[in-house]
Amino acid sequence: MASKPSALFVYYTYSQQTGAVVETMAGVLRERGFEVQLAQLEFTDPRYAKRFAQFPLRHAYRDIFGMVWPQMRGKTGQIRIPDSAMHGAHDLVVIGSPTWWLHPCMPIRSFLESEVAGALLANRRCAAVAVAHRYWRDDLRILQQLIVRRGGNYLDGSHFTAGGGPVDSMLALLSYLSTGVTRERYFGVRIPPATLQPSYVEQSRAFAGRLADQVLDRAVA
Ligand SMILES: Cc1cc2nc3c(=O)[nH]c(=O)nc-3n(C[C@H](O)[C@H](O)[C@H](O)COP(=O)(O)O)c2cc1C
Repeated sequence: MASKPSALFVYYTYSQQTGAVVETMAGVLRERGFEVQLAQLEFTDPRYAKRFAQFPLRHAYRDIFGMVWPQMRGKTGQIRIPDSAMHGAHDLVVIGSPTWWLHPCMPIRSFLESEVAGALLANRRCAAVAVAHRYWRDDLRILQQLIVRRGGNYLDGSHFTAGGGPVDSMLALLSYLSTGVTRERYFGVRIPPATLQPSYVEQSRAFAGRLADQVLDRAVA
C-alpha cells in the first residue's frame, strides 16, 4: 500500500460507551499507520431528538420504552451525517452501534439505509461493533446484514457488554440512564456496574489489531 491506509468510523453514542470503544480502536489503527477519521452521527429526528439531547434521560422509563415499537420495526429517522462520512474511499469502514431493543439503534440503521452509506460502503472492507448492556447478538447480525446489503465487504464484527445477569443488569441500565451515575443499589437491590466491563479496552485493541492485520494483508494470528 503506497500511501497511508485510511479508516473511517461511523458511529452513534448516547451514553459514550460506543464512543469509548471507537476511540480505543481508532488509537490502535493510528499506531498501525492508518489515517483515521471519526464520524459521530447526530440524531436530529424531531420525534426523538429531544429525549436524547441530554444525559441522563429526563424520563428514563418513558424514553426507553417509547423506542420499543420503532426499534423492533426497524424504523428510520432523521440524522445528521458529519462531512467526514459524506465521501471518501476508505480502506476500512467500521460501523459502531449501541443496541436499542435488540437492534442497531435508529440513527445507525438510518445511516446504513441512506444513499450516503451506499456510496461509502460499496466494495469497501467493513467491520461492525455492537455495544449493548447485555443483548448484542441481533444487533451485530443486523449490522452485518445491512453492511452487506450496501455492497460492503464484511470482514468481522465484535461486541461489548456491561456485566451482570438479566435482571440486575437491566436495573443497572435503568439506574444509570435515569441518574447518569453508577450506583451500587437501585431500589434497594444490589446492581452491577452499568458501564462496559473494563476488559473492553484490551478487547477493542485486539479487535482493531486484527482488522489492521487484514487490511494490511498480514497473517492473522
Ligand atoms: C432506548 C434504549 C434501548 C436499549 N435496549 C437495549 C437492549 O435491547 N439490550 C441491551 O443489552 N441493551 C440495551 N440498551 C442499553 C445500551 O445498548 C447500552 O447502554 C449501550 O452501552 C449504549 O451505548 P452508548 O453508551 O454508546 O449510547 C438500550 C439503551 C437505550 C437507550
